[in-house]
Amino acid sequence: MNAYSIDMKRIFVVVICCVLLAAYTTAQNNNAIVVKANQVVATVQPTMWGVFFEDINMGADGGLYAELIKNRSFEFYKPLMGWKILGRPQTEGDFIIQNRNQINLANPRFLRITLHHNSKGSIGLSNEGFRGMGIKNGLRYDFSVMYRRSAGDNIKMHIELIDSTGRNLGGTALTIPVSGNEWKKLSVSFNATATEPKAKFNIWLEGDGVVDLDMTSLFPSDTWKNRPGGMRADMIQLLADLKPGFIRFPGGCIVEGYDLSLRYQWKKTIGPLEDRQLLINRWNSEFAHRPTPDYFQTFGLGFFEYFQLAEDIGAEPLPILNAGMACQFNSAEVAPVDQLDPYVQDALDLIEFANGDLNSKWGKVRGEMGHPAPFKLKLLGVGNENWGPQYIERLRVFQNAIKQKYPDIKLVTSAGTDPAGERFEFLNGELRKMKADIIDEHFYRRPDWFLQNASRYDNYERNGAKIFAGEYAAQSDRTVSIYNKNSWQTAIAEAAFMTGMERNADVVVMSSYAPLFAHTDGWQWTPDLIWIDNLRSFGTPNYYIQKLFSTNKGTHVIPVLKNSEIIAGKDSLYASATIDKNTSEVIVKMVNTSGQTKMQELTIDGVKKLNPKAVHTILKAGKLEDVNTLNNPAVIQPIDHPIQLKGKKMNVFELPCF
Ligand code: AHR
Repeated sequence: MNAYSIDMKRIFVVVICCVLLAAYTTAQNNNAIVVKANQVVATVQPTMWGVFFEDINMGADGGLYAELIKNRSFEFYKPLMGWKILGRPQTEGDFIIQNRNQINLANPRFLRITLHHNSKGSIGLSNEGFRGMGIKNGLRYDFSVMYRRSAGDNIKMHIELIDSTGRNLGGTALTIPVSGNEWKKLSVSFNATATEPKAKFNIWLEGDGVVDLDMTSLFPSDTWKNRPGGMRADMIQLLADLKPGFIRFPGGCIVEGYDLSLRYQWKKTIGPLEDRQLLINRWNSEFAHRPTPDYFQTFGLGFFEYFQLAEDIGAEPLPILNAGMACQFNSAEVAPVDQLDPYVQDALDLIEFANGDLNSKWGKVRGEMGHPAPFKLKLLGVGNENWGPQYIERLRVFQNAIKQKYPDIKLVTSAGTDPAGERFEFLNGELRKMKADIIDEHFYRRPDWFLQNASRYDNYERNGAKIFAGEYAAQSDRTVSIYNKNSWQTAIAEAAFMTGMERNADVVVMSSYAPLFAHTDGWQWTPDLIWIDNLRSFGTPNYYIQKLFSTNKGTHVIPVLKNSEIIAGKDSLYASATIDKNTSEVIVKMVNTSGQTKMQELTIDGVKKLNPKAVHTILKAGKLEDVNTLNNPAVIQPIDHPIQLKGKKMNVFELPCF
């Protein structure tokens, strides 16, 4: 224990309480809670509370990635999925998909349209968007298309947004210039004239001749940082508000793929958009009960954008790469151990892409994409939820190669799908023998599990590998059940567990709730931290729990005790505490899962002076089943109350919780 003296300017108490009965129980002094502010027991890593991003539930395409046109380059399994031909083409083959895969493997298909002299604007194409398109009144929309048109032909285009009744919501007309045999890009912008959550986009054509179209795109102009072709600002703002210590990407199972040919390959997600080879999203058909046949990855949100996003929101980037193993729940395909070179090379090249100087091959690519400065990658994951000796033997190859070339990179390694059991025990043992840096543990469990395991890390192995609680979420029903809700009950269970992680910040150095985003009309997996539709987004109670912890992280863990014992479930109370040496704050988190209001006396020991004014942040709900919704997003949200200290004492939980 490291004892020292500190002048505390301010005390900040985060009380996360669930109150079902407003009955007060008066605290006895011998039950008083004592915070030992001068006894630092651990350092809180800046990475402690982070976010986990995966393109699941229309998190990227149809979500964060603000492209409004679905199947913009006609590469979906069915090339005209999402599109409808308007009017009646005169001749068979007037609308035809051509495939040039001999010369362009990344973006083989395009649409060839032949118009006849009497095509007078009654022929065209309509795109349905991702469950419609969210359109905002007055906002500028940027349309672009790659096209090819020969001399002699004369083709005009009229584009428009419409609502479900066919009402025009804005658009413009343009002439397609001659391009000869060259593919060229045409761009035009227009303003929307009304707000509509489920608009469609029409392209009407007029004239005589042949035009080839590809990469048909429509973006709102109000993207994050107003970047053209960028991301939805409301969704990123919710992430930025968490002040996450890291962002893990791109998953999740999406890293593994159904089989190895469908694995995530970062090199195919960078460079010009038209060169990023589309891939079916593994969540497209994963669950028979939630099929999403139109779910593909266009990689408009690719590895460059992920790194940029991490930088924007001040989070450490944590890419996870395939370990030469496809999803073990699916094909369970593996690359032979003696043929892992391309996989390992991808990892080495990724580090060079992120950190290499501009003279290096991949550093140069980063520079050409607009980021000459390194992204300062420090963490890299190898494998997601992989298990068995097959994983360990492959991981060893990666570990040797990466550590030899980049000894400072910390490797995140998989502890499989479950936090206990034979597979977990095997991996935990092997990884520790291998001197793994960080072990990634996952918990998708019922709320009770989180309460019963709030002490999981109190007696954990303290030497060697650190822990990344890389995916967790309390399941109100059961894992992958469609009945799971982001209820208050799940949120308080997670909060109780998180006090245990914080108390053991010398062991747990990173953690993230999963999954992050879900579209109300396009999800496969629930519960999720943030829900969206085409125009709106909101934080669940679980989001506010994450936010309370991550924005009140502190720098060092200090003890918070009742009867000289840690508070980890006795009398339905859970607690942890930190000090913030930068702001001279004491931060206490207390979780009351009893359903009763409890008055607790809290004493701050070990400080010379204390500012008498403290902040008491309460997150509460009326019922365990309470949820936030798109129409009612603030049923459960934190509210600050001033609290007056009497010397070094105060009462917490004394405010009526509803
Ligand atoms: O978060 C959803 C999925 O749960 C992730 O893709 C996977 O890693 C886990 O099984």
